[in-house]
Amino acid sequence: MDKYAVFGHPIKHSKSPMIHQAFARQFDEQISYEAILAPLDGFKESVAAFFASSGKGANVTLPFKEEAFRLADKLTERAKLAGAVNTLKRIESGELLGDNTDGAGLVADLLRQGAQLDGAKILLLGAGGAARGCIFPLLQAGVSCIVIANRTQGKAQTLAQEFSQFGDVVGCGLDNINNADFSVVINSTSSSVTGETPNIDPAHIQDCVFAYDMFYSDQQTSFLDWVATYNSSAKLVDGLGMLIGQAAEAYYVWRDKYPDVTKVINAFKQGSI
Ligand code: ATR
Repeated sequence: MDKYAVFGHPIKHSKSPMIHQAFARQFDEQISYEAILAPLDGFKESVAAFFASSGKGANVTLPFKEEAFRLADKLTERAKLAGAVNTLKRIESGELLGDNTDGAGLVADLLRQGAQLDGAKILLLGAGGAARGCIFPLLQAGVSCIVIANRTQGKAQTLAQEFSQFGDVVGCGLDNINNADFSVVINSTSSSVTGETPNIDPAHIQDCVFAYDMFYSDQQTSFLDWVATYNSSAKLVDGLGMLIGQAAEAYYVWRDKYPDVTKVINAFKQGSI
């Protein structure tokens, strides 16, 4: 049986094993997929042991995505641009290929939910690893501009600078966003984890058609709640589809088959996986 795993710390609550087993069932395939708690100072050794015992591929989650980036023998273009790896694959030469499917998972989910990305003006809140991973995939999807707004303005400006060769990307602070005309607003900050909301003027989200929070939970996230108080017509979407979408992209990288993501999102919402 082909062997896969997800590495993280913590890892107990990872949904990845359930998601990948649901994908495998769609194709009548049998795979092994375990969640591995790597020691904080022993990620490299854990990964080496897994691949030495015939592992085919692995997902990598917090806090090891940058370490996986350094560990990989080869990198896909999107992993290079993301500066982080969430998917490892053993290739024929025996080397490890590092990929990053997070941004593709987000874009696929936005499109599946009906967002118009071609020509869209995007407000991207946050300038951490999650933001970095989605900038290039959004530009590839044809957005006309991305304004990165971050609590620490300098980080947004540095990030924007790195990607400005690929499109119209600018960085600013949360309190000096220079536009109110965004059709899609994406929250990549970790503020919803603690029930907070990035401190921006509601004018920036009042007319958006789409509000996306990369975080997800059983209840509506604090960011989406906040958007709803100022904008009753925006479509509000949390990050469940992105989580399942990045997993589907990884499944495709490993097994060359693209699972039906909507089916798994629905099963998840109904609590049947
Ligand atoms: P990730 O890899 O999930 O992006 P990260 O790299 O630690 O995590 O980045 C977290 C992001 O959330 C940062 O942009 C952070 O802003 P700062 O750069 O100013 O720290 C942002 N963030 C976290 N809590 C926030 C809050 N309460 N309000 C606004 N932004 C917040």
